[in-house]
Amino acid sequence: MTGKSEKLFSLLGNQPVIPVLKVKSAAAAVPLARALAKGGLRLIEITLRTPDALEAIRRVAGEVEDAVVGAGTVLNPKQFDEAAKAGSKFIVSPGLTGSLISAAAASEVPLLPGAITPSEIMVALEAGIDFLKFFPAEQAGGTTFLRSLASPLAAARFCPTGGISALNAEEYLAVPNVVCVGGSWVAPDDLVRDGKWDVIESLARHASALKAI
Ligand code: 3PG
Repeated sequence: MTGKSEKLFSLLGNQPVIPVLKVKSAAAAVPLARALAKGGLRLIEITLRTPDALEAIRRVAGEVEDAVVGAGTVLNPKQFDEAAKAGSKFIVSPGLTGSLISAAAASEVPLLPGAITPSEIMVALEAGIDFLKFFPAEQAGGTTFLRSLASPLAAARFCPTGGISALNAEEYLAVPNVVCVGGSWVAPDDLVRDGKWDVIESLARHASALKAI
């Protein structure tokens, strides 16, 4: 892997699953991040899809030493900068645009952009980004599609996300060009709302032990 993709890869370590979080209240973010980290999922993605998301990132970055927090659903350079200033250690986008490539090039914070088609992947590789989000994974062709990219686009590594759960994560992890998977299943809305941190910790523990099959 190259440059900042390598940096993100190092932050991830051996973690097989990146929790994708929609945090409705900033107050819940800290206990949520703690529960996930205790269960072995230190690196988490808080999506910018709720009004509290940036504050949630700020609090986790400031208060949860064990967590590595990143921002997801970043669509443009303004959001990239806001998320980086809030303390995001990495930035995730569902896709890849020229302006996001420029924002990432000007920042120390690594970008994990979405890329599915060979052309999108080639644009990312040209920009020096070889760790990519494959989204929406199940709907876009799943493991069959990913396997068919491995030979022609051998430099690309993926974090498939979208429609992945404990039921099919290991099939994805078995694909040679897959590094990890992303998913929301480890932090369901109702468990977060009810503050069931012990249940979330145990979902995280299970997810952090998933392996390629
Ligand atoms: C998303 O960005 O919504 C992620 O892909 C999460 O998808 P999931 O809810 O299907 O895991």
